[in-house]
Parts: sequence; C-alpha cells; structure tokens
Amino acid sequence: MTEASAKRLYIKTYGCQMNVYDSERMADLLRPLGYVMAEGPQGADLVVLNTCHIREKAAEKVYSELGRLKDLKAEKLAAGDGVMTIAVAGCVAQAEGAEIMRRAPTVDLVVGPQAYHQLPELIARTSRARGERLAAAFAAEDKFDALPAARTPTGYSAFLTVQEGCDKFCTFCVVPYTRGAEFSRPAEAIEAEARSLAEQGVREVTLLGQNVNAYAGGLAQLARRLAAIPGLDRIRYTTSHPRDMDADLIAAHADLPELMPYLHLPVQSGSDRILRAMNRDHSAASYLDTVARVRASRPDVALSGDFIVGFPGETDSDFEDTLALVQEARYAACFSFKYSRRPGTPAAALPGQVDEAVKEERLARLNALLDAQQEAFNQAMVGRTAPVLFERAGRHGGQILGRSPYLQAVHAQGPASLIGQIAMVRIDGAAKMSLSGVLVETPTLEPA
Ligand code: SAH
Ligand code: SF4
Ligand code: F3S
Repeated sequence: MTEASAKRLYIKTYGCQMNVYDSERMADLLRPLGYVMAEGPQGADLVVLNTCHIREKAAEKVYSELGRLKDLKAEKLAAGDGVMTIAVAGCVAQAEGAEIMRRAPTVDLVVGPQAYHQLPELIARTSRARGERLAAAFAAEDKFDALPAARTPTGYSAFLTVQEGCDKFCTFCVVPYTRGAEFSRPAEAIEAEARSLAEQGVREVTLLGQNVNAYAGGLAQLARRLAAIPGLDRIRYTTSHPRDMDADLIAAHADLPELMPYLHLPVQSGSDRILRAMNRDHSAASYLDTVARVRASRPDVALSGDFIVGFPGETDSDFEDTLALVQEARYAACFSFKYSRRPGTPAAALPGQVDEAVKEERLARLNALLDAQQEAFNQAMVGRTAPVLFERAGRHGGQILGRSPYLQAVHAQGPASLIGQIAMVRIDGAAKMSLSGVLVETPTLEPA
C-alpha cells in the first residue's frame, strides 16, 4: 500500500449498540486508506451517517442531518478544500436507499449494514460516478470475513457483535427486513477479536446481537470461552429474547463470575392479547417465569427491558396489564417507546391504531413507574461495596467515572491511574442516573 495523505473521516451513529460496533469497524476499515477521525463534519473528506430505521423519528433525523451536510459540502468546495463525500449507511440505507438517492442528491453512496465492508471500493467508484448504489445483499458472513481481524478499541469496555439479524418477525419491527436472517459468527473469530481487544487493555466486552441469546452453539458456552482470555474480566450481552433464555445461560449467571449480573430482556407488553398480536411467542406469565428462574440463579441480577405503548388495538385494560407486569418484574432500568407505524410491517396495516395523545399519556404513566423502580434499585446500593470498572476521568477535578456490575454509572474521587482498572467502591449516594462512592482498600465483594 502506498502512503496516503491524511483524509478526515466523520462518522455519526444513530440507533442501537450494533450500529456503534459497525461504526467502529468502518473506521477500522478506512484507517489503512489514510483516514483519520474528525470531531465534527466541518471540512471532513468523508462523512458517514450510520442510520436507524426502528421508529419514524429516528429515520426522519437522517434527512434533516443531510440538509445540514449539504451546506457544509458546498462550503468546503467553495473554500477550494476539495470534495466532501457523503455516505448513508445502516438500516435506513437498507430500507430506503433508492429513496435517499432520489430525495437527497447530496448523497454520494448508500450502503446497507451487511455490505459496509465494501466501503473502500464504493468510495473509489463514487469519485468517478455518483449513485452506484450497492446491491445490499444479506450475507453477513462475507462482511465478517472481510473485516480486519485487529480492532482499535476506543476505551476499556468494547462492543463485539456475535450474532446478527432476526427471524422472529415481531409484527411492529423493521429489523428482520433491515438486518436479514439470523446469523452467528464462528466462536474462533469472536475469540480472536476478543483477544485482540484484551491485549490492548480492554477489560469488558458486551456481546451484541439482535437476538444474542439465539447464538448458535450456545451463548453460555461462548461466554465461558471468552472468560478464559487473560485480562477480560467482565462479559455482558444484549439483546436477549425471552424465548431463547436457555437453562445453560441461566446457570452461567450463577457459576461464571465474569458474566455480569445484568439482563436486558425486553417484554414489550404485559397483555397476552397484545403479545399475540405482536407475534412475540411468549406470554406475560412465561416471561415472569423466565425472570424468576434467572433470579433463582443470580438473585442480585439487574433486570432491564423495552416496552411499547399504544400498539394497535391496545386498550386501557391491556395497558393496565403492562403496569401490573412491571410491578411484578421490578426493573433496574428500562426503555419505553410509543408505537411507531413502520412501512412494510404487518402491524402498520392493523385496525385500531391508537391516538397519539393516548400513547403520550400511557408513556408518561409507564415511565413514572419505571423511573421509581430505577431509583429504588439505585438507592438499594447505598451502603454496599461494589467493584467498579473505571473508564474515564470525570468532569470535576480528581473525579473518576466507571460502571458497577449492574451497569450503573459510578463516580468517585481517585487517581487517574485507576482508569482501566477495577476497584472497590463503597456507595454513599444514589441519584436516578448515577451513584457516588468512595474507594475502599479491602476488596470485599459482598453478595446482595
Ligand atoms: N431485538 C430486540 C430489540 C430490537 S429493537 C428485541 O427483540 O427485543 C429495540 C426496541 O425498539 C424493541 O425492543 C422495541 O421495544 C422498540 N421498537 C421496535 N419497533 C418499534 C416500533 N415500530 N415502534 C416503537 N418501538 C419499537
Ligand atoms: Fe424486532 Fe422482534 Fe426481532 Fe427483536 S425479536 S429484532 S423486536 S422482530
Ligand atoms: Fe435501528 Fe437497525 Fe439497530 S433499525 S435499532 S440501527 S438494528
């Protein structure tokens, strides 16, 4: 390879952790071509928008961002500073690539989530002719084979995609269409990537998949394999589907210390009628039973979830069922959304679409309950001592910031030398979003 002059690359990431991972991998791919990361889009030679299609609002953001980029592109050209290439990647690219090319002439290329390994080639082509839209095929294995084996981590905790795509077809969701069929990466490739991260100081990996616990070969077995890597002290995974919470994974929460006591297990609704209409393939009772089995294995597990309010046909009584499920499940954190009608999904065509004002009101009531649970969970930490993986300096002098095993943000006064280390902290304060504490000398890990 010839020595290339530095080109500025700006990547803006929307959506889920999987997109965060993909953005890092795009940077890994472009670095050997002479690209260096820029803080913002001004003056950048290449701007990549890594987009999300999950809700209407997320998808619309892309077009407003493209409006701003159009002006920056013109400014750069007028200043004699060369061309700004604009690429749209991710799930909006997959779902409506042709429309983007038509609606936004400023866009030079569009690339789906399964095809971004072809970015270097696509960029070379666009310098000759605009609008060579990639046939966005769904061959995830090609992508992973083409990505560089080595990672350039950006911190002490890293994402690692192990599974992609979804075969579940919940009736509200675009993911099976934007990310294709379920595909699991070979364990050897995942282990090699995890080793490369650990050798560079990464202490924690979060294994990613749209249905990560559907990982072929068993997620528990994969977690055990990765836990043996020296330096890798913490393993997390997200997102799990209630249908795929198998006995081995539940057991691993008891016997694998590296597996963090945190479970993101979306339920979406507490009403069996709505769950059926969503094609979730589980009931409220079977979900609560799964949660109970996980808690029997690991009593202090922090549970988080996703909820949708105002799914078509949802009545007040269905919504009350959701509140009742939340009361029983007791969450440590949650994400709740108003149902968004997505083109091409079965639920978009259902009768009984719910009024925006009703959705708004239900969301507020649900969030009030979930916020109270989160606060209670954090409050219960006060007085306890927990190992914290410190990841960066805090905003105030002498402050360092990290995460508890339960994914809570924790800040303490301490030396910068602890960044990248796990240290014991006695928690002395709790707010909704974070905890504060003091470093303690003795490593006393106390159970809940
Ligand atoms: N694979 C994961 C999550 C996928 S998307 C799972 O099965 O749970 C993340 C969350 O977005 C979903 O859990 C759901 O709560 C929400 N979501 C997906 N489609 C949506 C839609 N059309 N409207 C509102 N929220 C939606
Ligand atoms: Fe979407 Fe359902 Fe698949 Fe999750 S399991 S990605 S919500 S279709
Ligand atoms: Fe969004 Fe695609 Fe993730 S639609 S949530 S970026 S899988």
